[in-house]
Amino acid sequence: MREPRPDDAAALWRLVRDSGSLDLNSPYVYLLICTDHAATSVVATDEHDRPVGFVAAYRPPPEPGAAFVWQVGVAGRARGQGLARRLVKAMLSREANRDAHVLTATVTPDNAASLALFRRVASDLSAGVEEHERFPAEVFPEGHAPEVELRIGPLVARVAVAEDLRTHEPTA
Ligand SMILES: CC(C)(COP(=O)(O)OP(=O)(O)OC[C@H]1O[C@@H](n2cnc3c(N)ncnc32)[C@H](O)[C@@H]1OP(=O)(O)O)[C@@H](O)C(=O)NCCC(=O)NCCS
Repeated sequence: MREPRPDDAAALWRLVRDSGSLDLNSPYVYLLICTDHAATSVVATDEHDRPVGFVAAYRPPPEPGAAFVWQVGVAGRARGQGLARRLVKAMLSREANRDAHVLTATVTPDNAASLALFRRVASDLSAGVEEHERFPAEVFPEGHAPEVELRIGPLVARVAVAEDLRTHEPTA
């Protein structure tokens, strides 16, 4: 696992395009993730240094104490091995995120994999999970399920988690 680089952006765009369930943003957005948001995000790569998973995250300006997970994606061939779970915890252990006291993310209620992932992360961190509807369906331009915000915290287990994940610490 390491910090995203600008030359990862096209691969992240393709990974999301092929994910089957994530909203595909423009290639430009993935360039911003791999530059402006690189310090708070993580990619996992294969033996050829090609991205097979990522967490795009940032510290929301209205709530700087939060680390907001924007998108999580794992390539089909790498799923079911705990990679997403390790990616989210590696993201939290990044230097730029270590003072966050809550992890936030939004999911659509029908995304069982995403819900299971975040609940498992909360359990690993001995943290609670609060849920509330953040973006109702009608604020989207066309057919889109509501987005429910998950708030995982307090992140009191942070130091122990950072220690546990030392081997996964992304390199700058
Ligand atoms: C969601 C996704 C990131 C999970 O990646 P992964 O590396 O396979 O996940 P992990 O192996 O770390 O599993 C984490 C938890 O989620 C559960 N999970 C993973 N895929 C699941 C699925 N399809 N259905 C139900 N639970 C699932 C796992 O069982 C595990 O929970 P557990 O430890 O309590 O058993 C991956 O399936 C993906 O990229 N999906 C498409 C994009 C997406 O939906 N992203 C999330 C939106 S933010």
